[in-house]
Amino acid sequence: MILNNSWQWLNVEETTSTNDLVKKYNIPPEAKALIITAKQQTVGRGRRGRQWISQTGNLFLSQLISTDIDISKLTFVTSVSIAETLSDLTNGLTIGIKWPNDVLVNNKKICGILIEQADNGNVIIGVGVNLKSHPDNRDIIYPTTDLASLGFSISCKDFLQNYLSKFDNNMNICQQDFALIRQKWLEHALYINSLIKVSLKDIVEEGIFKGIDEQGLLLLETNSSIKKIAAGDVFL
Ligand code: BTN
Repeated sequence: MILNNSWQWLNVEETTSTNDLVKKYNIPPEAKALIITAKQQTVGRGRRGRQWISQTGNLFLSQLISTDIDISKLTFVTSVSIAETLSDLTNGLTIGIKWPNDVLVNNKKICGILIEQADNGNVIIGVGVNLKSHPDNRDIIYPTTDLASLGFSISCKDFLQNYLSKFDNNMNICQQDFALIRQKWLEHALYINSLIKVSLKDIVEEGIFKGIDEQGLLLLETNSSIKKIAAGDVFL
């Protein structure tokens, strides 16, 4: 099925990870890009080698796109698009983005994003959204939530269509000027000017979160300097 004029959409019953499944495909000639969703995901993957607990009823999607925009910028395009979708489909919820790309509602994670490079130069954008349920908070290191328990019943297809229109729009904006995406991201950013911890590969840095630079690097003010951080996990 073609969604939003340009996305070839394939919905499968079950797969290990939609990111791994989409890797096996090419972008079909009749569409601009491909999107795969799965009703069940048996080996969902998260950032930094973590598991993504994939409960049936939630949304697991992977987009296969061809773009010259680099992955770090796509991170911001995607998280802003998800935040805009959540704002559109709900009202009164406080939606925020935790650097680089976790989307939170009322300070609890509702969406995770995993962007990877495919072998043929295409890019895979994997998004998990807790539509129906969320993992038991004892099983993971951060609090999570889901739309149904917040009183919003939204189907996978409705979420997808809204999200793809935001994504297409933000990709166009990003092609023109990443500064506009950065601005939108900062409007949703959590913990600006707060004391945060950033866990890097081997160490944890602590400092005041001063936002992101023109490339999207995290700016952390420590006693001695402003550090620029490319990858890590933010905690309070
Ligand atoms: C994270 O927050 O750590 C990223 C989670 C990304 C999960 C999605 S679900 C669809 C796609 N398939 C995967 O295996 N992972 C991503």
